[in-house]
Amino acid sequence: MAVNVQIARGTPKTVESIGVPVGAHGAVPRSLGLSRAALVAHGFEGKVGQTLVLPSTTGPTHIAVGIGADKPTASSLRNAAAALVRAAGKRVSIATSLADLEGVDAATAAQATVEGALLAAYRYQGLKTESATGGLQELTLVVGERRTAGARLGADRGSVTASAAALARDLANMPPAHLTARMFADKAVEVAGASGLEIEVFNKDQLTAMGCGGMIGVNKGSAEPPRVVRLTYTPRNPRGHLVLVGKGVMYDSGGISLKPSDGMHALMKMDMSGAAAVLAAMSTLSALKCKSSVVGYMMCTDNMPSGSAFKLGDVLTFRNGKTAEIHNTDAEGRLVLADGLSLGVEANPDAIVDIATLTGAVIGALGQKMAGVLGNNQPLIERVKAASVDTDESVWQLPLEQRYRKLLDSNVADMKNVGGPYGGAIIAALFLSEFVGETPWAHLDIAGPMNSEADDGWLSRGGTGFGTRLLIQLALDFTA
Ligand code: BES
Ligand code: MN
Ligand code: ZN
Repeated sequence: MAVNVQIARGTPKTVESIGVPVGAHGAVPRSLGLSRAALVAHGFEGKVGQTLVLPSTTGPTHIAVGIGADKPTASSLRNAAAALVRAAGKRVSIATSLADLEGVDAATAAQATVEGALLAAYRYQGLKTESATGGLQELTLVVGERRTAGARLGADRGSVTASAAALARDLANMPPAHLTARMFADKAVEVAGASGLEIEVFNKDQLTAMGCGGMIGVNKGSAEPPRVVRLTYTPRNPRGHLVLVGKGVMYDSGGISLKPSDGMHALMKMDMSGAAAVLAAMSTLSALKCKSSVVGYMMCTDNMPSGSAFKLGDVLTFRNGKTAEIHNTDAEGRLVLADGLSLGVEANPDAIVDIATLTGAVIGALGQKMAGVLGNNQPLIERVKAASVDTDESVWQLPLEQRYRKLLDSNVADMKNVGGPYGGAIIAALFLSEFVGETPWAHLDIAGPMNSEADDGWLSRGGTGFGTRLLIQLALDFTA
């Protein structure tokens, strides 16, 4: 449900709960009616993420919200706002002065506060027969006059970025039968219409004609046809040209190299999280007045075993003419991205960035809280890292180690689609690098952070929408 975000000079009379920022040191706001010692006695030390709910029989519930010992940052405000919303539980209206704190400009503070609140309030409602009751509907940012205009601007941006992340989460959380490649393309048509994007959808025959052998090969075992979606955003006088490519494996069974029926397998409906992040990010570009042109390719198909499935030993020919010998049909993401990257670089963009739930190996290396970033151009990777810091969607760079390239050597084709048992995230990126030529390229492997097992700050259980806000920030800051 859309949350109504207001900016006000004072706390509205009817509000159910008031989030009162409290630092780890310094004065405790009098409105709480408790001393520092009393707060500490109740386990509240003012750390970011801590809250203390103080109900009242006569008025709104006051909630002490920790903001830490240091000067607030966008990240600490986002986390504090998320903690506030979680502490407020079923209450539908919250007012807070979090966005009024000095140290962060009003727009940045309001954006981060709204993002934290809205992302923490997110719930996948999809298929429950009874709709959930309660939860955030009205958020009021209480700020001084001087910060009102900035706060309004930032709050609007925060609503846009949080709604985009919610769209990506919804798509990831949908059961596979409710989001086939065709349905994803239909959804993209709807989103494009509502957000001023040009769209072109390529079907199976077109992909065959275009030489997209990766898409066709991965799709071979499936009763559902593939789709490639191309979205285009063009501002007046673009100051740069960015291409985004998303892995849209609607369901990854592993194919003939079938995955075991474990918990991980059940998460493979989320193997389209990269494509979802691209669609969601692009839906905001016009509203956020992005100054660069952005083209997005979403490579949508599932990966299924059947009598018609592609096999080990098969050789696929990709859009750019290169060939790969299949040694494991579960290494399918790189095969669909190979076509996407090939298509993406044809228009000679200033940079190309792909985002994909690509390898289990990156989870082994970095865990579930951060994505791996690799690429062929350090300045571009630095831009990705900067967008990551701004949005608190963590990335860590891994090396594109050329000494591992020979692990992909094949006796019959330009390469195999898998290397050895080690360094899987790097080897997958080396495979992708074959399809970008000299174009500056960065690759985000989001297999770890695509999903969260539990509610955790602004992450809600299930699909996280990871990468959506990072890609938005990257596009907004992008120059040739
Ligand atoms: N979609 C998976 C990667 C993945 C694993 C994403 C866990 C999210 C959570 C990918 O297609 C895959 O199966 N990769 C294989 C590659 C291997 C066969 C070289 C993997 O990582 O096991
Ligand atoms: Mn796979
Ligand atoms: Zn996959």
